[in-house]
Amino acid sequence: MSHADDHVGTRRDFLYYATAGAGTVAAGATAWTLVNQMNPSADVQALSSIQVDVSGVDVGTQLTVKWLGKPVFIRRRTAEEIEAGRAVDLGDLIDQNAENQNKPGEPATDENRTLDEAGEWLVQIGVCTHLGCVPIGDGAGDFGGWFCPCHGSHYDTAGRIRKGPAPQNLHIPVAEFVNDTTIKLG
Ligand code: FES
Repeated sequence: MSHADDHVGTRRDFLYYATAGAGTVAAGATAWTLVNQMNPSADVQALSSIQVDVSGVDVGTQLTVKWLGKPVFIRRRTAEEIEAGRAVDLGDLIDQNAENQNKPGEPATDENRTLDEAGEWLVQIGVCTHLGCVPIGDGAGDFGGWFCPCHGSHYDTAGRIRKGPAPQNLHIPVAEFVNDTTIKLG
């Protein structure tokens, strides 16, 4: 976590929503301790599926929640990010056929990675597939998506690895909209 902590206090994408009923919003380096304090009696079953209120997530911003011990990036992409992701030639991808996306085993097209058909919502595990640092978001890196400063991995606007040592695209968790403003993880 040390690398993540280095920048966590200054990045908007680490804005943190507690989701298991507390309704708390916090930002900054202390955010990761919040879940531990929030609901110590919650059992594993309760934590295996959480619902996230995304009504406050504006276009061009990212919400990070902690789920099963990992950060999950919920990004509401801009039209430009969607367009950039969809314009990529699959042949340019390092990881073309990720198993871990909304449609497992399908090519890692932009469309196959997003939660909705319009491609606005992209939900990913926020862990670099190299050695597990938490990448920086908000258009970071050479491909306008995420950048992992630990060893220089660049991910595009669909979270696909494009440059650097990470071997795989950012992983996609099981997720779905349960209503217009709520995403269920797990
Ligand atoms: S952990 Fe991300 S580049 Fe090494």
